[in-house]
Amino acid sequence: MHAASGGVGHIAVQLARYLGAEVTGTSSAVNRDFVLSLGADKHIDYKDYNWAGQQKEYDFVLDTVGGNNIDNSIAVTKTGGTIISIPTGISNEASSKFKQAGVNGYFILVKSSGGDLSHIANLIEQQSIIPFVSQTYSFEEIAKAHTQIEAAKTVGKIVVTL
Ligand SMILES: NC(=O)c1ccc[n+]([C@@H]2O[C@H](COP(=O)([O-])OP(=O)(O)OC[C@H]3O[C@@H](n4cnc5c(N)ncnc54)[C@H](OP(=O)(O)O)[C@@H]3O)[C@@H](O)[C@H]2O)c1
Repeated sequence: MHAASGGVGHIAVQLARYLGAEVTGTSSAVNRDFVLSLGADKHIDYKDYNWAGQQKEYDFVLDTVGGNNIDNSIAVTKTGGTIISIPTGISNEASSKFKQAGVNGYFILVKSSGGDLSHIANLIEQQSIIPFVSQTYSFEEIAKAHTQIEAAKTVGKIVVTL
C-alpha cells in the first residue's frame, strides 16, 4: 500500500489486514510507526529505497501516488500480479509498461455504494478498522483544509465540520 499513512492508504492497510493479507506500507520515515500501528507487517521509506534493485515479491500493489511510482510499483510486482493506480487514469505509456512486465494494471474510480459503506461502517463499529482524523477544520476554514490536503503530507483523514 503506497502512501499508507494517507487518507486512502491508512484505511486500505487495515482492510487488507482484516482480509488476511500480509501488508507492506510506504511513507516517509516520519510516519513509519503510524503505518506499523495500523497493522502493516513491513514499512518502506520511499525516500530511501532502491525499487529497481528489489525482488518482484508482491501480488498486489495499491498505487495512491501515481507518476514515477507506477515504475516503482511494477519493479516489485510479481508476474501475473495486479497494480491498481487511483490518482489518475492509466496512460498509454503506463499501459504498455504493465503489458511488458506481465502485470495487470487498472485505474479505479470510487463509486458511491450504500451497501459498501454500510459494510465498512460495521467494520468500524467492531473496530476492525479505525479511521484516524489528524485535524478538524470549521467550514469557514475550508480553504486551509484544501491547502492541507494539497501538501500531500496529511496523516489519515482531515474533517471539515458543517
Ligand atoms: N480513484 C479514486 O476513486 C480515488 C479516490 C480517493 C483518492 N484518490 C486519489 O488518491 C490519491 C491519494 O489520496 P489520499 O487522500 O490518500 O492522499 P493523502 O492523504 O494526501 O496522502 C498523504 C500521505 O501520503 C504520503 N506520501 C506522500 N508522497 C508519498 C510517496 N511518494 N510515497 C509514499 N507515501 C507518500 C505522506 O506521507 P509522508 O509525509 O510520510 O511522505 C502522507 O501521509 C490522491 O491522488 C487522490 O486524488 C482517488
